[in-house]
Amino acid sequence: MANTVIIGAQWGDEGKGKIVDMLSATSDVVVRFQGGNNAGHTIAVNGNLTILHTIPSGILHPGKMCLIGNGVVLDPFVFLQEIEGLKENGIDVAPRRLGISHKTHLILPYHVALDKAREAYKAGGKIGTTGRGIGPCYEDKVARIGLRASDLTNPDLVRTKIRAALVEKNVLLRDLYKAEPLDAEAIIDQVLAIAPQITPYLTDVSGVIQESVRMGKNILWEGAQGVHLDVDHGTYPFVTSSNTISGCASTGTGIGPNYLQQVIGIAKAYTTRVGAGPFPTELDDATGDFLREQGHEFGATTGRPRRCGWLDAVVLRESARLCGLTQIALTKIDVLRNLPVLKICVDYMYKGHRIEYPPQGENALAEVTPVYEELPGFTEDISSCKHFEALPYNVQKYIQRLEALTQVRITYVSVGPDRDQTILC
Ligand code: GDP
Ligand code: IMO
Ligand code: MG
Repeated sequence: MANTVIIGAQWGDEGKGKIVDMLSATSDVVVRFQGGNNAGHTIAVNGNLTILHTIPSGILHPGKMCLIGNGVVLDPFVFLQEIEGLKENGIDVAPRRLGISHKTHLILPYHVALDKAREAYKAGGKIGTTGRGIGPCYEDKVARIGLRASDLTNPDLVRTKIRAALVEKNVLLRDLYKAEPLDAEAIIDQVLAIAPQITPYLTDVSGVIQESVRMGKNILWEGAQGVHLDVDHGTYPFVTSSNTISGCASTGTGIGPNYLQQVIGIAKAYTTRVGAGPFPTELDDATGDFLREQGHEFGATTGRPRRCGWLDAVVLRESARLCGLTQIALTKIDVLRNLPVLKICVDYMYKGHRIEYPPQGENALAEVTPVYEELPGFTEDISSCKHFEALPYNVQKYIQRLEALTQVRITYVSVGPDRDQTILC
């Protein structure tokens, strides 16, 4: 398999975990390049579920190297919990096969407190963040005051940085957000107590990838969130705080863009979104409820009900051009069973014009009206189909129509949550 970037082509939760796990079988190295434990990536193997937030979704395959790149923000306490959970299930999480970049920024308790306090303080315009401290940690990175994984080898640096950070953070927490201030010394003690458990994982991620490529190995870059949550190209300000598009695989792991040979966009056969922000094809009706129930659309990280709606080809077209998609993996098409009519949004109407791509201005997406095309539904159980030809005619037509609308080949069709419920087209 060629070196491949996996990205979510919608607003997250497309089934990236499932596809990364499946493709890990034919890869050697799996690397996360952005986001943090706002992600919730679900893997199902023979009905057993594993939900990963920080550790790459290749970890269930023995012997595969799993890396956390510099572009990720890592909560070290969550990382250790996740390791414990995997160990209990007999998964090898030794540092010889799991590494954290020296340059990865750490999410600390004051980032989590600020994230929650800021959301609580807002009267309107809440983003509906996951409350995991993602935004505040990326802010500190850009402000050049963050704590990086390699700092854990230097207790004096940890003390200096945390003390300095809390001078500022406590003013915000106490005076602006009317929240409890935090004790710098207590946080320093917590961080220094776990440092010896984290430092064995420190790795030159860029170096390992380059060496692996030189040895002819295959690399899988695992994106988190989705293209339309990208801090630049998404539905700003209702986005996450990192670049989620394929280009970030390069900056987030320290390799040249010429290493990235394939980009697979994971797309759900309908659309979901968690948190606030425009969503043109959202269904606030019985069909939306049907999708939520049949698709078990409740967040893998926060448990929040996901907003559900029809498939939006405009969103996918934009993802194809922002990420240079070479393929699409279409997931959860089984969930559409028993809907008499399937709608696909093919274009938008915006200020009296029909448009093929999302309008550019802030919140302009909230002003579009979807132009729908209707296709006939299907009633057959497709969850054990193994070949494209075995899929009902109407399912085949739906897939082919989506290929025509996006101009991207659909090379995988997922018909159930399990690793084996995937058709290679
Ligand atoms: P991710 O964040 O992109 O990894 O996706 P999540 O794990 O948050 O959400 C996807 C959900 O859909 C998980 O519960 C998966 O087990 C499930 N899933 C993935 N693919 C399929 C599929 O083809 N059909 C069904 N019914 N469920 C799927
Ligand atoms: P995976 O990788 C779906 C959403 C949040 C919120 C916005 C900002 O599982 O697909 P943040 O905590 O990042 O500051 O929240 O982004 N969000 C996700 N939605 N899937 C995710 O990850 C998400 N990660 C963040 O709901 O709207
Ligand atoms: Mg998820």
